[in-house]
Amino acid sequence: MSDKRRHSFIVYISPAGTTESVARKIETRLTALGESFTACNLGKKPCDQSGLYLALAADTETLLFVGSPVYSSHAVPTIINFIDQLPKAKNCWAVPFVTWGGATSGVALHEMGKSLLGRGFTLAGAAKVMAVHSLMWQLPDPVGAGRPNEDDLNLVSLLVSDVIKNIKSGSTLQLSIDRLNYQPAEHVPEMLRLSVAKAKTILPPRVVDPERCTLCGYCRDNCPVSAIELNPLPDFLPDCFICFNCVRLCPENAILVDMKPVYERILSRVSHYAESPATEVFRP
Ligand SMILES: Cc1cc2nc3c(=O)[nH]c(=O)nc-3n(C[C@H](O)[C@H](O)[C@H](O)COP(=O)(O)O)c2cc1C
Ligand code: SF4
Ligand code: SF4
Repeated sequence: MSDKRRHSFIVYISPAGTTESVARKIETRLTALGESFTACNLGKKPCDQSGLYLALAADTETLLFVGSPVYSSHAVPTIINFIDQLPKAKNCWAVPFVTWGGATSGVALHEMGKSLLGRGFTLAGAAKVMAVHSLMWQLPDPVGAGRPNEDDLNLVSLLVSDVIKNIKSGSTLQLSIDRLNYQPAEHVPEMLRLSVAKAKTILPPRVVDPERCTLCGYCRDNCPVSAIELNPLPDFLPDCFICFNCVRLCPENAILVDMKPVYERILSRVSHYAESPATEVFRP
């Protein structure tokens, strides 16, 4: 990869903001290294992916950082769909990264890595970063409180430096996909059986309280996948991937949901998996 033409893209989704904080760290490091980049949050408009598509179509040397929160042991559908719809890449490197809420990072990195390889990318590195659990915002002491912390983010920063150094040196070293298959074999089948679609059927329903809802539209405007329609009360559309932003952000607390069974399930998963290390970066 020649120095002159290289451009990086950082593409992610981050309903509760921690994946975005990792993306920002990547941006800061790339800036410090004098690297050009474009960042795109798929959950916020405008998010212009045309530069990435043009670069891939023109076989321009490209480094793609792609980030997802872990939902139900998986990368979220928006990110997997984004990767799977990319044009076939040549001369391009990718660094998948995930944030996870202390229950399990699941098979998310492995599946993102496989999808990226399927689109022709070479894996230059990867990262899983511990974060506060985004379903526990109402609790005073959520799982993963205070994460990602400075140490977590510094690991990401060092990874970015090493990736750029390797690429600049013309190294052909690449991260083996097998390194991202790090979960104990006995846990993998149950992780694979879960999915965001399945979690939707397990999570307690959200009910809009007509007495509280002012029809302000704030939930609709802040849904990262445009999955709310006001009819006149908010309706949740099939694309909803249960990020709970609407519940969390409603100024009237008008979307009611019983979170107690959710907390119990998360805590039992934390002790069941006891995943360690919490934050880890993967290099070739
Ligand atoms: C529906 C849903 C499912 C989740 N599933 C998991 C999980 O399987 N394992 C885990 O450790 N954290 C899980 N989390 C927590 C998120 O992975 C974690 O908080 C992540 O950092 C959120 O990223 P964001 O802040 O960019 O939205 C889940 C969160 C939601 C909303
Ligand atoms: S943000 Fe709350 S009050 Fe506003 S439309 Fe949505 S549910 Fe109703
Ligand atoms: S409808 Fe609510 S829970 Fe579903 S994706 Fe949109 S903001 Fe998230």
